[in-house]
Amino acid sequence: MKRLAIITSGGDAPGMNACLRAVVRGALNNGVEPFVVYDGYKGLVEGKILQVHRRFVSEILNRGGTIIGTARLPEFTELEVREKAISNLKALGINDLVVIGGDGSFRGAIDLDNMGLNVVGICGTIDNDINCSGYTIGFDTALNTIVDCIDKIRVTSSSHTRCSIVEVMGRHCGDLALYASLACGADILIDPNTGYDFDKIVEDVKRMKHEGRKHVLIVVSERILDVEELAKNIEKATGFESRATVLGHLQRGGIPSAMDRVTGSILGYKALELLMNKESGKMVYFLDNHVYTKTLEEVVEHRDIDYLDLYKINEIIG
Ligand code: F6P
Repeated sequence: MKRLAIITSGGDAPGMNACLRAVVRGALNNGVEPFVVYDGYKGLVEGKILQVHRRFVSEILNRGGTIIGTARLPEFTELEVREKAISNLKALGINDLVVIGGDGSFRGAIDLDNMGLNVVGICGTIDNDINCSGYTIGFDTALNTIVDCIDKIRVTSSSHTRCSIVEVMGRHCGDLALYASLACGADILIDPNTGYDFDKIVEDVKRMKHEGRKHVLIVVSERILDVEELAKNIEKATGFESRATVLGHLQRGGIPSAMDRVTGSILGYKALELLMNKESGKMVYFLDNHVYTKTLEEVVEHRDIDYLDLYKINEIIG
C-alpha cells in the first residue's frame, strides 16, 4: 500500500479527530501517503480529496467534531454514485480507505469492499449502537455532556419542586439513556428496551409526590414519544409541575474525553495496521483493553447485546 484515504461519515462524534490523527501519523511513519476526504461519502463522490502531512493533524486531539467534515448521503446506495467515488480514488492511485462512522457508513463501506476497494471501519458514533460489546468513539464524551446537563437541570428543578423529563439521543439505541439514568439516578427510564406504561408512570410520580420529593427525573430516549406531551400529561394527571428538555445536538459537540481520545488513537492505528496487512471488510473495536476485529457484515447485523444486570440494577437503585 502506497497511499490511503480517510473519511469521517454519518453523525460526527467527539474523538474522530484523534482517530484521524493516528491514521495520518501512523501512515506517514510507515511510508504510506495519507489523503483525507472532506464531507464524508458526499465529498468522495465530489472528489474533495486532499493529500495531507503531519502538520495537518496538529492541535486537533482536543477538538470535538471532525475537522474534515461529514455528511449523510442516502444516494450512496446507488451503484453509479459509488462508481464515481471509486474512480475519484483510483485517479489518485488510492485503493485503501479508512471509514470512521456508524452502521450507515459501514453499509456503504461493505459496498465499496465488494467493488474491490480495501476498506476498514472504525466505530465512531455517540450512539454506541454497533454490533459488538465494545464501545464506540464519542459515546463517553456525549454521556458526560448529558450527565453535566442533567445535573444542572436537577438543580433548578429541585428549587421549583418539579418533574424533569429529559430526552437524549441514541437513534434506536438506549445506551445513552441507560447510562445517563445510572449516572444521574433517574427515577424512571424510558428507552427502546424498557418501553413505557403511562399509567405506571403516573402512579410512580404520584407516589414520589406523596413522599415529599423535591424532584423527579425521567430520562427518555429520542424517537419514542413526545416529551412535551408527556410533561403536560404527567402534570395534568399528578399535579406535579413538569418540564421537558430535549438536549439535542449539544450532546454531540463536546470536547473529546480522555477515553475517546485514547480509544480513537488506538483504533486509528490498528485500522491502518489491518490495511497494511492487506485485510479488508473489517471493523476494529476496543474492549477490555484489547482491540478486536469483526467483519463489517457482522457489524451491521441486528445488535444483540448482553446488558447483564444493568436494567435491573438501574431499576433497583433508581
Ligand atoms: O447517530 C448520531 C445521532 O446524533 C443520533 O443520536 C441522532 O438520532 C442523529 O444522529 C441525528 O442526526 P442529524 O444530526 O442528522 O439530525
